[in-house]
Amino acid sequence: MELNRSGIIGQSTTLAEVFKTLSKVAPTDSTVLVTGESGTGKELLVRALHANSTRANKPFVPINCGAIPKELLESELFGHEKGAFTHAIRSRPGRFELADGGTIFLDEIGEMDLSLQVKILRVLQEKEIERVGGTGVKKVDVRIVAATNRDLEAEVTAGHFREDLYYRLNVIPLHLPPLRERGDDVILLAKHFLEKFCAKKGRPTLILNSRTIKILTAYNWPGNVRELENFMERLSILTDGTEINPQDLPDKIIDQVAETNAEALTQISEPKKMPKLPPVTDSKNANITGATYIWPTLQVLQDLELNLKDFLDMTEAKLVTEALDKSQGVKNIAAELLGVKRTTLLEKVKKIQNPK
Ligand SMILES: Nc1ncnc2c1ncn2[C@@H]1O[C@H](COP(=O)(O)OP(=O)(O)OP(=O)(O)O)[C@@H](O)[C@H]1O
Ligand SMILES: [Mg+2]
Repeated sequence: MELNRSGIIGQSTTLAEVFKTLSKVAPTDSTVLVTGESGTGKELLVRALHANSTRANKPFVPINCGAIPKELLESELFGHEKGAFTHAIRSRPGRFELADGGTIFLDEIGEMDLSLQVKILRVLQEKEIERVGGTGVKKVDVRIVAATNRDLEAEVTAGHFREDLYYRLNVIPLHLPPLRERGDDVILLAKHFLEKFCAKKGRPTLILNSRTIKILTAYNWPGNVRELENFMERLSILTDGTEINPQDLPDKIIDQVAETNAEALTQISEPKKMPKLPPVTDSKNANITGATYIWPTLQVLQDLELNLKDFLDMTEAKLVTEALDKSQGVKNIAAELLGVKRTTLLEKVKKIQNPK
């Protein structure tokens, strides 16, 4: 049977692995624990799990254990009888009862109190619940799926999470890889979101130019797909023209890429659009101006979102690397080609290898 991906986009092998496990586990009643950094699509994946299960036509009931005050969470989950506490003016079923026949999604389970964890364990083992202030137990047929962005094993070691519940939940672990480990999916998703947001605003879909694609691919996406989605929405509102250039990207992205991936910037630092300046005629510089040398302009710095120092460092690194290539690593010759002392060259090589 064709897997219903419930709108989850991606063709990376890391994501394909997740879908492989999902297709095996969805039709069963096994408990599943979904882990992954914030914004990796955990909720979307759990919805896909439900949609591909035999319970698909029954309720899917999500509850965010981290968003509901501790005192209320128990009665939210298990319901209460009239008079169970001050504000319990009438009896109310909890989410487990509402999910009967279907799936309950315990999101951010790592935030749950130890005392409530015991009660979840009981539902898992006995398949029955008891309302707060109630006098009897009720059978429920509910599949439990939980998610967390915490390292539950570490929480167990720290004494914040019950070990028995952890093992009971973790029958089938599904781990969503961070976006930075999904290769070309970044661009696939970026294009998808751009299309969606541009359509919503009634404008033609913005185009990502090749330099922008390089930067988006090199960025480490700490907020994962949610961060990407939000950026694309912002770009669909703020970008003038038809294509997205590096200078349209937020500083946060450029700064991080510049820091960790000088190579990506070196590649984009050869823009074809560099405007041609008239040859410099200053006689002092005559020997280097030649007919073909094109001086960088301020526009280039702005396009690359680099400051003067970083730009000069990059230029220096490029020339030093070229000299070393030409001299096949012979430092004396490389120094000569560059017209510097050997010791100066060594210093520069050191600086390139260990950038601050
Ligand atoms: N592979 C994907 N394809 C399309 N949209 C995605 C994908 N992954 C995530 N999204 C979208 O990104 C946003 C965040 O996803 P979701 O809420 O499922 O993440 P999460 O892991 O539950 O995050 P958190 O830990 O912050 O709760 C949602 O708008 C979701 O629709
Ligand atoms: Mg979530």
